[in-house]
Amino acid sequence: MSCCPHCRDANSFFGQRDAAQRLARYQRRGPEGTTRLLVEALCAAGVTDATLLDIGGGVGVVHHELLRAGAARAVDIDASTAYLATARTESQRQGHADQVTYVHGDFVALAATVAPATVVILDRVVCCYPAMAALVAVAAARAERRLGLVYPHDAWWVRLGMRLLNTGLALQRTSFRVFCHPTAAVDAQIRQAGLTQRLRRTRGMWQVVIYERTGAPGP
Ligand SMILES: C[S@@+](CC[C@H](N)C(=O)[O-])C[C@H]1O[C@@H](n2cnc3c(N)ncnc32)[C@H](O)[C@@H]1O
Repeated sequence: MSCCPHCRDANSFFGQRDAAQRLARYQRRGPEGTTRLLVEALCAAGVTDATLLDIGGGVGVVHHELLRAGAARAVDIDASTAYLATARTESQRQGHADQVTYVHGDFVALAATVAPATVVILDRVVCCYPAMAALVAVAAARAERRLGLVYPHDAWWVRLGMRLLNTGLALQRTSFRVFCHPTAAVDAQIRQAGLTQRLRRTRGMWQVVIYERTGAPGP
């Protein structure tokens, strides 16, 4: 069931076949690329007994891994019903389904009802959402200790690649679009919420960034 235009777009773009392929890849090879870097950085910072808020968790790789590493509980809010159902099935297979709450919807629309968590995760989600400031500000405000993100950096060739991808999507008459939000603007939103950058790594078009809370939560 679709709750808003963004969820309709996400449901058609992140569908069942894509979810099944991503899950099969995860089951074969574990977390890949920048998701592996993010998981390793969060584990190194400590996740024992942490609560997790995995926004747009996809098939749930990050929360599956962090729960296995000692996190206590997770909430996964995703705009795609296919991804959410796949993440739930994988939780059952891994034996931690009772530690995860799965919520369908647009996180920005639901944010007022979402409790803060020790660690908030946005793995390749910022690039799916047009209203970056709204998404990042509410996510950062819910991070009690740490925020981990993977999102595209704004080099000219990344912006060009995304423009070409959006042209392809428009030609296919798909309303889903990708966004290369300026790194400085994303960083400013997060700092404004009282978080300080602790780690930044780039891999190809992506950057993996970890922030820690040093001030009071933002609005
Ligand atoms: C590119 S996938 C990334 C999935 C996963 N985090 C990963 O890195 O493998 C983007 C995910 O974010 C979800 N998403 C995008 N915008 C969202 C929003 N505003 N609220 C909740 N989920 C969102 C999509 O449905 C999709 O599952």
